Amino acid sequence: MNNGSDTILAAKAVTKRFGGLVAVSDLSLDVRHGSITAIIGPNGAGKTTLFNLISGLIRPDSGTIFFKGERIDTKRPWEIPYLGISRTFQNLRVFHNMNIIENVMTGRYTHSSGGILSCAARLGAARREEQKIREKALYWMKFMNIDGIGAKKLKEVPFETQRIVEITRAVAAEPELVLLDEPAAGLNITETKNLIDTIYRIREIGTTVLIVEHDIDLIMEISDHIIVLDFGKKIADGTAKQVRNDRKVIAVYLGEEYGKQ
Ligand SMILES: Nc1ncnc2c1ncn2[C@@H]1O[C@H](COP(=O)(O)OP(=O)(O)O)[C@@H](O)[C@H]1O
Ligand SMILES: [Mg+2]
Repeated sequence: MNNGSDTILAAKAVTKRFGGLVAVSDLSLDVRHGSITAIIGPNGAGKTTLFNLISGLIRPDSGTIFFKGERIDTKRPWEIPYLGISRTFQNLRVFHNMNIIENVMTGRYTHSSGGILSCAARLGAARREEQKIREKALYWMKFMNIDGIGAKKLKEVPFETQRIVEITRAVAAEPELVLLDEPAAGLNITETKNLIDTIYRIREIGTTVLIVEHDIDLIMEISDHIIVLDFGKKIADGTAKQVRNDRKVIAVYLGEEYGKQ
């Protein structure tokens, strides 16, 4: 909308090609501080690629990305969390052989002096630091209502719970901006309701939420702002009401989705 100080993340004319394919095409967008902003669009529209660009896993061929006014598209992926951005992955990137609480603890590495290695060390200051990280992890597990299962191995719980663990790890980093890539995929109605409640609570503590999701009812309910992509291009940008009445959006995405119900 504007480029004032209420913009936490801004992309300016970002293009990313994979060989001959333009996955993200001359894309500009603003994410407002404290908002729940959704990126929607058909499969292959470039949503995950956009998340990969924001989190530094890949670099744009052209264009720039700013976080709180600082250029971030030139940063390395490990630098991004330290700036205050954390994310989840469409296909989960979690540690199956670790306990659930240990998975969440890995989200705290940006706050620990020794990095994640101090969790493995068992001596003196490292042990005290591990205790602090454990307490924080437990705090965020309570926030996400999964504090009862910390001792379980991640591989012992269903995929939907693993997804919640991954979101917990992202939130435990206490980011200013969290990127959620299809967090409701595979969730039943009750789990989706809980997720909606969780996303509201994440926003209430001051975290900006950028979410990619195909559950259109969820998106229409929670989003302050929706950006619609198709073939890497932005085709609509506005409130839920504006977007759901947009002819182009109905033609390439909503119509087809609603038609299936
Ligand atoms: N690493 C990659 N190499 C080649 N093509 C890719 C790569 N990542 C994504 N793509 C292609 O870019 C397009 C956008 O993909 P993606 O961002 O995953 O879409 P979405 O998340 O919206 O479904 C797709 O055509 C996909 O096949
Ligand atoms: Mg995707």
